[in-house]
Amino acid sequence: MAEQKATNITWHGGTIGRREREALLGQKGATIWLTGLSASGKSTVAVAAEAELVARGRLAYVLDGDNVRHGLNSNLGFSPEDRTENIRRIGEVAKLFTDSGVIVFTSFISPYRADRDAARALFEAGDFLEVYVDADVATCEERDPKGLYKKARAGEIPEFTGISAPYEEPEKPELVVATKNQSVEESVAQVVAFLEENGYLAPPEG
Ligand code: ADX
Repeated sequence: MAEQKATNITWHGGTIGRREREALLGQKGATIWLTGLSASGKSTVAVAAEAELVARGRLAYVLDGDNVRHGLNSNLGFSPEDRTENIRRIGEVAKLFTDSGVIVFTSFISPYRADRDAARALFEAGDFLEVYVDADVATCEERDPKGLYKKARAGEIPEFTGISAPYEEPEKPELVVATKNQSVEESVAQVVAFLEENGYLAPPEG
């Protein structure tokens, strides 16, 4: 956990609880933490799953690496320390969204197991679902939609995940989505079915 610098601060709770918000939304708040290489399909699956849930009358929201790095995390690069801080902040933001009752899809490479575990540790059991968007380097390099693998191979991008920086595969993800051999629709169906089967698309009981 990062050092807390401020002193003389007191937590102020609201009068509306998470269960009330979830009842309003007809769902359970959760963070669906997508992890995988660049071009593995994280953002594609996240955006399509968000659209599918909204079409079903549920509230979902995508937090995306490239987008968040334009704003909240614009002061961070790709050193191990900066990636750790990137994931720490996103973990905290996703936790707030989850408390708001929203189903959040986070789309960050999040290459370090320890960083993902630290994010998980912020959440109650069942609120954080790690989804490994599994596509190997060769597959991602073949796709290369942003031309980044080509640049990385040419030595133009230092510390590029999968080429010159590590990616640590999840050991016990809640779900594995193997995008190499399935369509976007199939991947989305897999994620949505998982949420449905585990009760996330229904209001809390009681
Ligand atoms: S993370 O490692 O800190 O989780 P994040 O998901 O926020 O990374 O950002 C990854 C995106 O940044 C990639 O999809 C790619 O578009 C871009 N990028 C730029 N430089 C790098 C790099 N050195 N390694 C990985 N991705 C990079």
